[in-house]
Amino acid sequence: MVGLFFEQESTRTRIGFDVAASKLGHHVVDVSATPGSRLGKAQGEDFEDHIRTIQEYCDLIVARTEHVSTVEELSRLTHRPVINGGNGIGEHPTQALIDLFTIEQRLGDVRGLSVAMSCDPTARHALSFMKLLVLRPPRRLTLCLAPDTVLSNVAAAAIDDLRAKGAAIDRVDDIEATLGHDVLSIQTQKAAGIISGRIGDMSADQHHDDDRFRLTADKIIRSRSKVMIINPLPRHSETDKSCDSLPNAAYFEQVRLSIPVRMAVLHRMLAGRRWAGRSHSRLPAGWPETSPPSSSLLSQSAN
Ligand code: CP
Repeated sequence: MVGLFFEQESTRTRIGFDVAASKLGHHVVDVSATPGSRLGKAQGEDFEDHIRTIQEYCDLIVARTEHVSTVEELSRLTHRPVINGGNGIGEHPTQALIDLFTIEQRLGDVRGLSVAMSCDPTARHALSFMKLLVLRPPRRLTLCLAPDTVLSNVAAAAIDDLRAKGAAIDRVDDIEATLGHDVLSIQTQKAAGIISGRIGDMSADQHHDDDRFRLTADKIIRSRSKVMIINPLPRHSETDKSCDSLPNAAYFEQVRLSIPVRMAVLHRMLAGRRWAGRSHSRLPAGWPETSPPSSSLLSQSAN
């Protein structure tokens, strides 16, 4: 049984994990603070009791949270594996895996490729993608950013790591300068202005990207670009719908390929492997700090 604990809107991650779990033969239950749930209600119960309750129903929890620290807090409260489905302005690791898998399905090993990123470098998907690339450094990484954009310490550290691993690092401030790359990962440059990392919130439509960061079919065709375009979606104004019919567009292919990626993540975490997470912080003295759930408990999840 896979529990979906979602505090923020999500289409792809929520439905994607639901579909992936179903294809593996698992059942899925929504363990979020839905209108019918007691979590957070005046006469209800607190987060800790909610998690301690739902872990008795679920073998694994997928969480998307409003705040960065909630996924960590959740993993401390439960002995079940927790998958980070996007924690506030923190990270979005499964999206990064999907991005990499899609690239390598089309173009082969990313380590031989030039990759450009045009996005808010503090966006969670961007940070996770940069960190993943450190493990498989591309030949070149170009950041396409507004001139006044300052990299966060975490992003700057990932870029330093990539440079140290031999990737050539460039920075440009116009999307047209990225069209000679093998891959362009694009999203809005305005993610930081969209509250709580809710990149799917339609109020974000008021944040129109500068034309220099807007990709159109016209720009691609004019430059005869073969760049593969990935985008975690939802799109804002940065990826014009005119791009969709070009062979460059791979963003809906990403949605399709997200299913085997999420199936693999679920399978790996439910396969009875030794669990490296932390156990409940209030276990009795002397209880092993990293006590994993038993393999038999994990394997029950095969339904
Ligand atoms: N890419 C992504 O995380 O989409 P959702 O917000 O719809 O899950």
